[in-house]
Amino acid sequence: MTATTSKDLSSAPAVETIGVAKRYPSGVEALSGIDLRIEPGEIFALLGPNGAGKTTWISIVCGLARATGGSARVLGLDVVKDALAARRVVGLVPQEINFDPFFKVREVLRFQQGYFGVRRDDARIDEILAALDLTAKADAGTRELSGGMKRRLLIAKALVHAPRVVFLDEPTAGVDVNLRRDLWDYVRELRRRGTTIVLTTHYLEEAEALADRVGVIDKGKLLVLDTPGALLARHGARRIKIKLAAPLTALPAELAALGATLEPGGLELSCPVATPGLPAPPANGQPAPAEIRRVIAAVAALDASIAVTDLRTEQPTLEQVFMALVGHRKGAAA
Ligand SMILES: Nc1ncnc2c1ncn2[C@@H]1O[C@H](COP(=O)(O)OP(=O)(O)OP(=O)(O)O)[C@@H](O)[C@H]1O
Ligand SMILES: [Mg+2]
Repeated sequence: MTATTSKDLSSAPAVETIGVAKRYPSGVEALSGIDLRIEPGEIFALLGPNGAGKTTWISIVCGLARATGGSARVLGLDVVKDALAARRVVGLVPQEINFDPFFKVREVLRFQQGYFGVRRDDARIDEILAALDLTAKADAGTRELSGGMKRRLLIAKALVHAPRVVFLDEPTAGVDVNLRRDLWDYVRELRRRGTTIVLTTHYLEEAEALADRVGVIDKGKLLVLDTPGALLARHGARRIKIKLAAPLTALPAELAALGATLEPGGLELSCPVATPGLPAPPANGQPAPAEIRRVIAAVAALDASIAVTDLRTEQPTLEQVFMALVGHRKGAAA
C-alpha cells in the first residue's frame, strides 16, 4: 500500500481509538471510553443492541461528530488535527438514507467524486454500479429507487473515491437475501484489494460469515473483542450428539470421564468436543473437550445391542454468544 500523505502511514493501524468518549448535549453518555485498534486489511464487525453507541463511534472516526474525550486516528491521521486528510481516506455508508432526490444515480456518484477531489472516473462508476447491481438504474432519479436500491446507492457513494477504510453502518438492513450475498462477496473483493472494512450489523450470521474480528459494545462500553471462532469457543464447546435406538439407564464411566451427559429418557448422549485450531473454553471444573474419535470409541464400546441412530455436532452460534453478553436485558438506552 502507498501512503497518501508525507507521513509514513504504512505501519499505522487502519483505525485506532483510545478512550473515545461521547456525551451528547442532552446528557446522554453514548460512549464511555472505547479503545479499539483495527488493522489494515481487516474486516471488523462492531455489534451491539440498539443505542449501544455504534453509530456514534463511527461518526467520530469519520469526522462527523466530535468526541468529548479520547482520540481517534485513521491510518495514522488524527480525525481532529488532520481532519481533512482523515476524511479523504474513509468512505462511510451511513445508517440513514440521505440523498438529494433531484439527482440521477450516476450524477450522485460523479458529484461524490468531485466532492472528494478525485478525477472524474466513469469507468470506476460503471464498475461500482455493476457490482451493486445498479447499472440498469444509472440514469434513474434517486426518487425512483426502491428502498434496497437506495441502500445500494449509499454503498456505491461511499466507495466511489476509492477509500482505504470503509465504514458500513448496517449496510444490509432492508436488502434482499440475494443482494446481501452479493454484497458479502463485494466486501471480500474490496478487502482483497487492500481495503479495510468496518461494519455494524444486527445480522449475527453476517458478522460470522464476514468478519475477521468482532467487537461487541453495549451502553457505550466495549464488552469483548475477538475472532468469531474464539468468541464461540469461549462461550461453550461444540457438542457431539448421539441418538440411541434403546435407552441407556446409566452413563458409562468412560463417557462420564469425557464430560458427556445423558438426556432425560436415556436416548441421547451429548458430549463436548474440541474444535481443532481453537482454544478450549474455560474449564469451569469440566474436563477439557475430547477429540471426537475418543467419544466415538467410547460409544462403540457400549452394549452392542444398542444401535446408534444419529450422530451430529452442534456448534454455538454468534447469536447465542451475543445473547449471553447483552441479551435478557431491559431498559437499554434507546
Ligand atoms: N445526535 C444525538 N443527540 C443526542 N443523543 C444521541 C444522538 N445520537 C445518538 N444519541 C444517543 O446516543 C446513544 C447511542 O446511539 P447510537 O446511534 O450511537 O447507537 P447505535 O449503537 O448505532 O444503535 P442502533 O443499533 O439503533 O443504530 C443512544 O442513547 C442515542 O439515543
Ligand atoms: Mg446505529
